[in-house]
Amino acid sequence: MINTKILGTGSYVPKKILTNNDLKAFVDTNDEWIYTRTGIKERHIVTDEYTLDLAYEASLRAIESANIDKSEIDMIVVATVTSDFAFPSTANLLQAKLEIEGVTAFDINAACSGFVYALQIADKMIKSGGFKKILIVGAEILTRLTDWRDRNTCVLFGDGAGAMVIGKSNKNNIKDIVTGSQGDTEMLLYCKNPDLKDPAVNVVSKQDHIHMKGREVFKFATRIMPKTVNELLTRNNLKIDDLSCIVAHQANMRIIDKSARDLEVDMSKMYSNIDKYGNTSAASIPIAIDEAIKSNFLKEGDLFITVAFGGGLTWGGALIEL
Ligand code: UT7
Repeated sequence: MINTKILGTGSYVPKKILTNNDLKAFVDTNDEWIYTRTGIKERHIVTDEYTLDLAYEASLRAIESANIDKSEIDMIVVATVTSDFAFPSTANLLQAKLEIEGVTAFDINAACSGFVYALQIADKMIKSGGFKKILIVGAEILTRLTDWRDRNTCVLFGDGAGAMVIGKSNKNNIKDIVTGSQGDTEMLLYCKNPDLKDPAVNVVSKQDHIHMKGREVFKFATRIMPKTVNELLTRNNLKIDDLSCIVAHQANMRIIDKSARDLEVDMSKMYSNIDKYGNTSAASIPIAIDEAIKSNFLKEGDLFITVAFGGGLTWGGALIEL
């Protein structure tokens, strides 16, 4: 039986900061509304960087923290909804930029749950015996899909990337992972790709932006996150008090707060950095875990659950001993 663990983590956000007050230049909003409804104070946004650049910087840091040579990596998985190209994938571009030759590299899209899906793939691939060290990345430039005239959505998102190296362990550190999806038949959260509008004149439609029914997504999130945590606890014969902390997808502080109340967890056990970054989609979980480790919120030996929800609708959770 092969066991797995997190060998190293890293994250990166672009330098430019957009505060809540800055957003007043685009839409009728204010710091008080945004902060009390979401917990967000500011977000980092790209100026001239691409998703690849964010993924690359986070990966370098994860590889350094894993203390391995990059040539030991035999698979790269990038979770993103904002790949720079339809193809090649961001993982392919990253493989070239990192100069890691000949490895399996591909992107996945499970929206904000994407990183937990990538973790599940890496975990199972290593446990299958086929791979040894896998680089997984969540990298997003959601501001590329943002409608800056829509105050319901533009205040929520930010850009960034987080990465991890997953490898073998002599202990069962990555203990369990659950993922799932239910079709978003009511179109609660989506962004359409451009398509060929008129083949006769070869006109392609414009890039769409994010559409969201906020209240409905809020209800889904506050139902699915506690459910996923409870499923992991039950499957592993654990109680909520056995956990050191929970690292939840950073979408809205009120979603984290409501989930904590339902789970009867003290808020001091819920990691949060949403005030600085907003919702960075698939990058939110790996950035949060990296920062939780680097700030000593999460320490070696700690048992924690990371849990996400997102467009799709998708969800995922992992039970991990650091
Ligand atoms: O990966 C994406 C995942 N998405 C999410 O997790 C989003 C989940 N949903 C939410 O986080 C919340 O629903 C929001 C933060 C998006 C909205 O909060 P809410 O408490 O559900 O507010 P609401 O949409 O019901 O809007 C309340 C009021 C409305 O005004 P009226 O109709 O009551 O006059 C909105 O027009 O707040 C208004 N409003 C704003 N006001 C100032 C909406 N956005 C803003 C804004 N600034 N940015």
